[in-house]
Order: sequence, then C-alpha cells, then structure tokens
Amino acid sequence: MACSHYIIVFCSLLLIATSSITAQTPSAANALVLPVTKDASTNQYITTIKQRTPLVPINLTLYLGGQFLWVDCEQGYVSSTYSPALCGSPECSLANSDGCGTCNSPPRPGCNNNTCGLFPENPIIRTSTGGELATDVVSLQSTNGTNPGGNATVPDYLFVCGPTFLLEGLASGVTGIAGLGRTNISLPAQFSDQFNFNRTFAICLSPSTSSRGVMFFGDGPYLLLPNVDASMDLIYTPLIINPVSTAGVSTAGEPSAEYFIGVSSIEINENVVPINITLLEINSEGVGGTKISTVDQYTVLESSIYNAVVDTFVRELANATRVGSVAPFGACFNSTSIGSTRVGPGVPNIDLVLQNETVYWRIFGANSMVQVSSDVLCLGFVDGGVNPRTSIVIGGHQIEDNLLQFDVEASTLGFSSSLLFRQTTCANFNFTSSV
Ligand SMILES: *[C@@H]1O[C@H](CO)[C@@H](O)[C@H](O)[C@H]1NC(C)=O
Ligand SMILES: *[C@@H]1O[C@H](CO)[C@@H](O)[C@H](O)[C@H]1NC(C)=O
Ligand SMILES: *[C@@H]1O[C@H](CO)[C@@H](O)[C@H](O)[C@H]1NC(C)=O
Ligand SMILES: *[C@@H]1O[C@H](CO)[C@@H](O)[C@H](O)[C@H]1NC(C)=O
Ligand SMILES: *[C@@H]1O[C@H](CO)[C@@H](O)[C@H](O)[C@H]1NC(C)=O
Ligand SMILES: *[C@@H]1O[C@H](CO)[C@@H](O)[C@H](O)[C@H]1NC(C)=O
Ligand SMILES: *[C@@H]1O[C@H](CO)[C@@H](O)[C@H](O)[C@H]1NC(C)=O
Ligand SMILES: *[C@@H]1O[C@H](CO)[C@@H](O)[C@H](O)[C@H]1NC(C)=O
Ligand SMILES: *[C@@H]1O[C@H](CO)[C@@H](O)[C@H](O)[C@H]1NC(C)=O
Ligand SMILES: *[C@@H]1O[C@H](CO)[C@@H](O)[C@H](O)[C@H]1NC(C)=O
Ligand SMILES: *[C@@H]1O[C@H](CO)[C@@H](O)[C@H](O)[C@H]1NC(C)=O
Repeated sequence: MACSHYIIVFCSLLLIATSSITAQTPSAANALVLPVTKDASTNQYITTIKQRTPLVPINLTLYLGGQFLWVDCEQGYVSSTYSPALCGSPECSLANSDGCGTCNSPPRPGCNNNTCGLFPENPIIRTSTGGELATDVVSLQSTNGTNPGGNATVPDYLFVCGPTFLLEGLASGVTGIAGLGRTNISLPAQFSDQFNFNRTFAICLSPSTSSRGVMFFGDGPYLLLPNVDASMDLIYTPLIINPVSTAGVSTAGEPSAEYFIGVSSIEINENVVPINITLLEINSEGVGGTKISTVDQYTVLESSIYNAVVDTFVRELANATRVGSVAPFGACFNSTSIGSTRVGPGVPNIDLVLQNETVYWRIFGANSMVQVSSDVLCLGFVDGGVNPRTSIVIGGHQIEDNLLQFDVEASTLGFSSSLLFRQTTCANFNFTSSV
C-alpha cells in the first residue's frame, strides 16, 4: 500500500514537471538565447538571466571555463522555490559533490543543514570558497534562430550559493558568475539535458559597450542581421581536454572544465614565429597549451612566445611608425601610419595554426589592435611572464565579433574568424521578441 501510494505521488509529480516544461518551450524553438553586454568600466562580459519565484533578472559575469552558475545568496535572495540539495541526493551526485555540510546561522538560502556543496570561484580575483548547492527556477528566452521567442523555464536549475565577498572585482550590479565549462552542471549542460538539445552552445561577443552581443544554447541557425546565418561556414578544430583541473579548488584526477585548443604554431604574414613548441603542448601536470577565456581582456602569452610574436609583428609592420609603448602593451604605432580595411587596421595577419597547416584561426586588425588613444594603436597581446600555467590564453578582444560554437559532445570548436568579412557583427542579433 505504502509503496503504490509512493509510486502514484512520484508519477503525478513527474507529469506536472513534464507538462510545465512543454507548456513553456515553444515547439519551433531549436535553441535558447541570452544577451551579453560588455561592461564599460571592467570590460567584463555580462549576461542577464531570470531566476527565483517571483522571477527577477540577475546579472552575471560570463566565465567560459566556469564550472557552474553561482550567485550571491547572502544579500537579497528571496524565492519561494529555493531548495537546498540534500546530502546523497541525485543533485549532489550530478554535481560530483560528496561532502555534507551544516550551517550554524539561522536557515536561509545558502545556509541549511545536511546539504552538499561546491566551491564557487571568482576568476577575476582568483578566489574560491565553499557554498551550498541548491535548485531554483531559471527562465530565459527560446529562439528559432531569428528572434527571441517564448520563455523556456527550468523548474529545478542547479546552482551554487556564494557569499557577498566573492563578488569583489566583478562589474557593478553583477551578483554572480555564469559558468559555461565542460561539466555536467554548467549552463550548456543543464539546458541541453532539460530541453534535449545537443550539448552545443555558441558565444558572439560584441566589442561595443552599448550594443549587446549574444549567446546561444543549442544548434543553429544563428541569424544575424542582415540575414547572415553565423553557424554556417565555420572552421572546425578539436577541443582538447586538459587532464588536470585549472579550478581554484579541485579533487585529484579531475580534468579542467576550461576549453583548450591545439595551436601548433603561430604565423605572422605567413612567416613562422620562432617559438618553443613544447610550450604549446599540455604536459602531464596540466601545464602549457592554449585555452580560450572570456575573463582575460587580451590574449596572454608566455614571455618567450610574447617576445617572439612582438618582434615578428614589428618587423612585418616596418612601414608603420612605432611610438612609445602604452602599458600593458609592448608594441604601439602611430595610427596615422596604418591604413584601414573592412576587418580593422591594415596590419599583418596573425595566424594560429591548428591541427594542420591548412587549418588556422586568422586574427585581423580589428582583433589584434587596440586603439589606446586617438592616434595610437597597440598590438593587443600581453606578457604572461615565465612559467604560466597555460602558455596561450586567447582573451576577449581577440574573440569579439567572431562566432565561437562549442560542440561539447563531439569535442570540437567551430569558429568564424572575423564576422566583419561577412558584413555583420555580434551586435546584430535581433532581440525584438517575435511573440
Ligand atoms: C543545524 O543543526 C545544528 C545542530 O542541530 C543547529 O544548531 C543549527 O541551528 C542548524 N542550522 C540550520 C541552518 O538549520
Ligand atoms: C522563425 O520564426 C519566424 C516567425 O515565426 C519566421 O518568420 C522565421 O522564418 C523563422 N526562422 C527560422 C530560421 O526558422
Ligand atoms: C516571458 O517572461 C516575462 C517575465 O519574466 C514576461 O513579461 C513575458 O510576457 C513572458 N513571455 C511569454 C511569451 O510568456
Ligand atoms: C543588469 O544589466 C542590465 C543590462 O546591461 C542593466 O540594464 C541593469 O541595470 C543591470 N542591473 C543591475 C542591478 O545592475
Ligand atoms: C557527466 O556525466 C556523464 C554521464 O553520466 C559521465 O560519464 C561524465 O563523467 C560526467 N562528467 C563529469 C565532468 O562529471
Ligand atoms: C545533434 O548532433 C548529432 C550528432 O552530432 C547530429 O547528427 C544532429 O544533426 C545534431 N542535431 C541538430 C539539431 O543539429
Ligand atoms: C622549451 O620549453 C620546455 C617547457 O617549458 C623547456 O623544458 C625546454 O627547455 C624549452 N626548450 C628550449 C630550447 O628553450
Ligand atoms: C602621429 O603622426 C602624426 C602625423 O605625422 C603626428 O601629427 C602625431 O603627433 C603623431 N602622434 C604620435 C603619438 O606620435
Ligand atoms: C604597411 O604594410 C602593411 C602590410 O604589408 C600594409 O597593409 C599597409 O598598407 C602599409 N602601410 C603603408 C602606410 O604603406
Ligand atoms: C587538415 O585538417 C582538416 C580538418 O581536420 C582535414 O579536413 C584536412 O584533410 C587536413 N589536411 C591535411 C593536409 O592533412
Ligand atoms: C526585428 O524583428 C522584429 C520582430 O520580428 C521585426 O519587426 C523587425 O523588423 C526586425 N528588425 C530588423 C532590423 O529586421
């Protein structure tokens, strides 16, 4: 008797959950969409998602390699649907969290007994701390690729509660971090599980602090005005798993949640830059290699690579007038001595050569050069010092107005190179709702 009662209760819960999901996910949708704004004072990329009951918009700093979503629960977290993850629950195992915590203050979101936890990380100040794992409602807009459509709601989205102090260094108004990393509880993982999308997502960051870029969860089309499907004509390269975690806190044997690619050489104006290629490989300690980062403003190169790139670039741009360097950059030029092209300042192309000579990521002037004043342009790469953890960290400035599509299941990255060639930009998604 008790058993059949249990089954009935379980089944009706399942039915309620299923119907609420289908009711709120329009059938034409093939993906979900979130806006991404570049913050003018920190240059962080900020997205806005709705959470809690009643739903409130929360601003989060985008962290491509972040393991999960975390938000400040110490201040202003009000929700009737907050539910802590109890020790030993399926939520704790999905999140790979074995611990069991207690909290000595009065109960509130982020402070409950008999709950499992994880370690929310702030990549800007490189700080991690413990926090309670929990579920709550999350809502965002769906899309068929053209405009945002109806709302898609996840009733029990898994996230971590962080403390207020962990917001230090984040843009004003931001209350947490949106992690897109290679875990089973990152935003792309939970959305694809919930809505049966392939575990594919794409980011398209706008260099403008006044026009929004866009992020898609699910497969294309991803239409940008004037009717350019940015998911077409991508170049593909394998995503590489770094076997050693790069997170602030990790367990032995845990791989990195960040996205690495296999750069095999660097060419400038098709001349090979002389670098120590051992640095381009990830060794058994997880050191070396190339990753993509949305929390580094500019590409960071290990010192010897940096020096070789700057030397080759300066030599190849000998006809431009070099001026004093402007920190943090080492090679700056009088912009009046540099022409302009559709893809930015007319400077030598920088190619990151990938799995073979015919596959490369070409960086044009719009992504290599930074305008530091009205008549000074600098090569937008910075020196990462000797013995950094990762030899090449491809930063925000180098991926703006490029579409990057991560197919986590197939472990491939599709990249567009500069969308300016296709006469569109990442700010050209039509955010006007079609419903
Ligand atoms: C957790 O349990 C301890 C011991 O029973 C109790 O003192 C404390 O108030 C509880 N904390 C919460 C958040 O319920
Ligand atoms: C998306 O839906 C709109 C409105 O229903 C329609 O006009 C458009 O063609 C659709 N786009 C795609 C790519 O299916
Ligand atoms: C989506 O949700 C917002 C509030 O979060 C609401 O204003 C809007 O009407 C909803 N749209 C649809 C199509 O349900
Ligand atoms: C969140 O971001 C949006 C879009 O950039 C902005 O309009 C809003 O003011 C921000 N909210 C807070 C609380 O800062
Ligand atoms: C994610 O889940 C799959 C299937 O359950 C499992 O094989 C994989 O190891 C998990 N990945 C991580 C990073 O925990
Ligand atoms: C999902 O992935 C599979 C395998 O890679 C592929 O065949 C299929 O076309 C993808 N689905 C969509 C909607 O693109
Ligand atoms: C190349 O880099 C590796 C890894 O840092 C180092 O062990 C090796 O000595 C370097 N080789 C040269 C020629 O500098
Ligand atoms: C750049 O060149 C122009 C024209 O030759 C000159 O007027 C200007 O002072 C130069 N700027 C710098 C920073 O050298
Ligand atoms: C200098 O050389 C670059 C690359 O070869 C070229 O694009 C640029 O137009 C030249 N600039 C001038 C002022 O001749
Ligand atoms: C280079 O790699 C691409 C994609 O992986 C492949 O299609 C092509 O055949 C390769 N070319 C050579 C010369 O190996
Ligand atoms: C954006 O989409 C809306 C709704 O479908 C449409 O009315 C509007 O014309 C579109 N804007 C542009 C510039 O195409």
